[in-house]
Amino acid sequence: MIDTPAAAPGPGGALDVMALTSSPERFFARRLEERGDPFRVRFPGLGDVLVTGHPDGARDIFGAPADAFVPTENNPVEPLLGAGSLILLGGDRHRRERKIMMPPFHGDRMRAYGRIIQSRTLEEIARWPAAGDARLDVQAMTRAITLDVILRAIFGVRDEATRARFHETIVAMLDGYTTPLVALPALRRGFGGIGPWARFAKARDAFRALLHAEIAARRAEAQHESRASEREDVLSLLVAARYEDGEALSDEHLSDELCTLLVAGHETSATALAWALFYLGRDATLTGELRAEIAGAGAAPSPDALAELPLLGAVCNEALRLHPVVPIAIRRAARDVTVRGVAVPEGASVAVALTLLHHHASVWSEPSRFWPQRFLTRKYTPFEMAPFGGGARRCVGAAFATYEMKVILGTLIAHARLEGADTPPPKPVVKNITMAPSKPIYLHAVANPLVASHPTMGD
Ligand code: HEM
Repeated sequence: MIDTPAAAPGPGGALDVMALTSSPERFFARRLEERGDPFRVRFPGLGDVLVTGHPDGARDIFGAPADAFVPTENNPVEPLLGAGSLILLGGDRHRRERKIMMPPFHGDRMRAYGRIIQSRTLEEIARWPAAGDARLDVQAMTRAITLDVILRAIFGVRDEATRARFHETIVAMLDGYTTPLVALPALRRGFGGIGPWARFAKARDAFRALLHAEIAARRAEAQHESRASEREDVLSLLVAARYEDGEALSDEHLSDELCTLLVAGHETSATALAWALFYLGRDATLTGELRAEIAGAGAAPSPDALAELPLLGAVCNEALRLHPVVPIAIRRAARDVTVRGVAVPEGASVAVALTLLHHHASVWSEPSRFWPQRFLTRKYTPFEMAPFGGGARRCVGAAFATYEMKVILGTLIAHARLEGADTPPPKPVVKNITMAPSKPIYLHAVANPLVASHPTMGD
């Protein structure tokens, strides 16, 4: 076992889970203060986890060879994603799977998705009341946009009625996988077809049925070369993709991976955007500087022009730094390793607490302040700034997510005026699988009349 006094676990169990979910930042900061870095935390289902928030610890974990770590067992996302999910695979299977999953998310492919992301954002603005200002629930808006982006750009669903059906079942499934179900495996039982688990399972099955229909349709299209070649969505690319040995992904496997992309890529991007908008809403000077930068790229800047803007990129980075949407990156040692000099035997779990890493005093000045300009004057290493995790398990959608954030935020600022409503600052709490604001964020929003009267629609 890990035998350093500083690494001793706490009382463990449900109390730790409650403290972690109600404030991950405070929970990790208190553990660090009490026990030093690294420290151990005991979670139900996961056992003892050795946690570090130090850049050297992040280097030990993210910089280790790919075969040093595998996923933890009993990952709470398994009921949602299915056992074939990339997130749950280790070793050669993980390497082989990443090879087939990465190409659709390569930086070069972003142009194909940019138009969808921007037109969906303009559609949203066009829905606001034409006259006067709307009181906007920011997360409801960013969630609606990022979900639709996934349905269009990743699943490739073109029909609006089908998208609406997907939307309904996805919301029921994700809302149904409540924080207690995520945190406490004992609750994941049917109780005669009633209760939270049964409700979740019903919504999940409905979603999977829709997915299978979409996969079947895309396979049929793949038989017609002309129709298949005009498709640029991730599902179509994965239907056509082959492993190194020439094998294709099975329907079940495709369904697990699409579900993974949905769960990993929808709420995460929406929450990061909501944090960015919250801080912009409170800082008229910063918003003015950003508006000026965006105006310099033209009256209606293209997705690619937005993606190049330094301050816009810095605002997105600062939101991801201050409130990393995924608070920890966790793994299990596949062989004996050390983290900051502490021996970790094969089979033990380790994690980087991204909230601690992104506040580390050796790297960040005034770490609790939202100050995007810090990214304009200094480059940070992947062991200092790691909102997408790191190493062989780094987020597959990182390029997609950062591009998407810049295009949505830039388009909103270019085509609308957004001002902070008087809402007190929310606390970051764990909601489902992300670290999200504890209460709704509202902004006053006025659309540029040009957008309200000339919405740009379609894929
Ligand atoms: C702001 C948005 C996002 C954030 C903050 C985020 C963060 C993360 C983090 C921290 C991990 C774990 C990495 C590790 O263990 O080292 C991860 C994994 C992953 N993410 Fe993201 N993510 C975001 C958006 C997306 C998007 C848009 C997609 C795809 C559409 C995506 C797909 C994935 C997948 C498939 C994995 C598993 C990778 C593996 O296990 O090999 N993510 N993400």
